[in-house]
Amino acid sequence: MSGFPLTKKVVERFVAGESTEEARNAVERLRDAKLAVTVDHLGEETRDARDAEKTANAYVTLLESLRPLRLGDRGEVSVKLSAVGQRIDDAMALENARAICAAAASVGASVTLDMEDHTTVDSTLAILRKLREDHPSTGVAIQAYLFRSEEDCRDLSAEGSRVRLVKGAYREPASVAHQGKSAVDKAYVRCLRILMAGKGYPMVATHDDRMISITELLADRFGRSIGDHEFQMLYGIRTDLQESLAGAGHTVRVYVPYGDDWYGYFMRRLAERPANVAFFLRALGGK
Ligand code: FDA
Repeated sequence: MSGFPLTKKVVERFVAGESTEEARNAVERLRDAKLAVTVDHLGEETRDARDAEKTANAYVTLLESLRPLRLGDRGEVSVKLSAVGQRIDDAMALENARAICAAAASVGASVTLDMEDHTTVDSTLAILRKLREDHPSTGVAIQAYLFRSEEDCRDLSAEGSRVRLVKGAYREPASVAHQGKSAVDKAYVRCLRILMAGKGYPMVATHDDRMISITELLADRFGRSIGDHEFQMLYGIRTDLQESLAGAGHTVRVYVPYGDDWYGYFMRRLAERPANVAFFLRALGGK
């Protein structure tokens, strides 16, 4: 990993590596630990059509390299539309995302669209609808902190719809999003209830014990069984919990980021939790 050497082991806690091969190796280790995966080629917003195409090609290469692992539906990739041309125009993002969906389908995997800042939500959902015409398993992340998300969850709770519910990772204005942990947690539960009561496939992406317990209660209440929803967590975060839920029979999908553009992702993970900053500082001190 490039950058100054002391950060290497810290970055490696959250990022699987820079190369396709390192990503593949991480996926193989997770598969052997009975965990499903969704792999993210790191990189955000580009306004350069060649970069957008390069990112799409990186996904195609990655998916091809995963073929021998025979992951089936335990394999998935996560795509940020801004990295494949959304800031240039929707048609380009759609074309690149279609190429990724086709490559995923050819190895039995699916695709979930990450959700970025609130200005992109309408465009992302419109592209999702078009992708689902040919690739109905394509999923999308919905951010509970946005005021609009309960309605989006309702629209996306039909049969066959895969929705990853997250709290939301961007700094959003009070005009569009709940502020503060308690309000966001309550919004998460409201969205979760809609998805669990619906007919789709909820992907409950959180490391929060309370949200996980509430998911289990809602599964009971709405007569859901263990295979009709799943948990998702980030690579390197609460690995003990990932393994214990998988051991209890749940599908647990680990979001595996890789690539050389790791800085933004890494900084978001540090910012989420003061203890991570302490971990980072200890590593800098050589401990
Ligand atoms: P919360 O932040 O309240 O944390 C609950 C507990 O989890 C903490 O007390 C701690 O124990 C643990 N924890 C949380 N974050 C940690 C960290 N960084 N290091 C160590 N422990 C941590 N966001 C987005 O806007 N768009 C997206 O597309 C996605 N995609 C996505 C996929 C997957 C699989 C996951 C798990 C998350 C995302 N996110 C996302 C990020 C999400 O919005 C959110 O920022 C993080 O998941 C943190 O929120 P929690 O639900 O974990 O709760």
